Amino acid sequence: MRKKLIAGNWKMNLTRETSASLAGEVRRFALERKADREVLLAPPFPYLEAVRAAIEGSLVLLGAQDVSPHAPGAYTGEVSAEMLLDLGCARAIVGHSERRESGETDAIVRGKAKRAADLGLGIILCVGEREEERLRGEEKRVVERQLREALSGFSGRDAEEKLVVAYEPVWAIGTGRTATARDAEEMHRFARGVLAELFGEGAAHSIRILYGGSVKPSNAAELLAKDEIDGALVGGASLDAASFAEIISS
Ligand code: PGA
Repeated sequence: MRKKLIAGNWKMNLTRETSASLAGEVRRFALERKADREVLLAPPFPYLEAVRAAIEGSLVLLGAQDVSPHAPGAYTGEVSAEMLLDLGCARAIVGHSERRESGETDAIVRGKAKRAADLGLGIILCVGEREEERLRGEEKRVVERQLREALSGFSGRDAEEKLVVAYEPVWAIGTGRTATARDAEEMHRFARGVLAELFGEGAAHSIRILYGGSVKPSNAAELLAKDEIDGALVGGASLDAASFAEIISS
C-alpha cells in the first residue's frame, strides 16, 4: 500500500515569521490526523531552518524546492544536497516546471536527481506537458521523455527508496484549471508503466506518483480517491492553513 503524500510547495512566498507560524499550524492539524498520510513542507531556502524548528519532533517532513547537481565548492548561489540533509530535509523537488521554464534541461534535472539520491536525499521529480504539447497529442511522449532522461542514472533501489514522481501538467499550475481526475489517472497509469520498464513491476508499484496543478479543497477529494494518485503537490492552496488542512484531510 502506497502511503499518500501531501506536499506543500510554498514557492517564493512568505516571511520568516509567517513561514514559522504556517508550519506550526500544519503541525497541529497533521498531529490530529491518523498517520495514514505523509505531509511535507517545502519553504524557500532561507526559511528552512525556521520551518524545521516549527515542525521538530512531529511527523511533518521538511523539503526543499530545488537542489544543486554539484558537490560543495565554487558554485555561487547554489545549495547542495549535503546542506539540505544537514538541515533535516527529507526530499528536494527537482525539475519543477517553473525551473524548466528558466532554462533547466533534462540533463540538469538528471544531475540534480542523481546527486540527491547518491547522497541519500529523497526527491520529488516533477514532469508534465505544456498546453501546446497536449493540444498536439504529445503529452505522453513528453512525460515519458522527462522520466527516462531524469532517471537514466537511477538503479531500481534508488528509485524504490528515493523517488517520488509528481505529474504536473504545466497548463494547470497556478491557473485554477485542473486535469480531470480521469485524465490525471490515465497519465499516472502511463507513467507507472514507464517506471515499470525502467525498474521492474515491483519497484514501479511502490513508487508514489503525486498530482500537482491547482489542487484545492474543492477538487482534492476526487483526485485523491483515485488509486493511481498517491498524493498531491500543492502550490497556492498550501499557503493557506485552512485550505491545506482540508486537502490533507480529503
Ligand atoms: P499550484 O502549484 O497548486 O499553485 O497550481 C502547484 C505546483 O507548482 O507545484
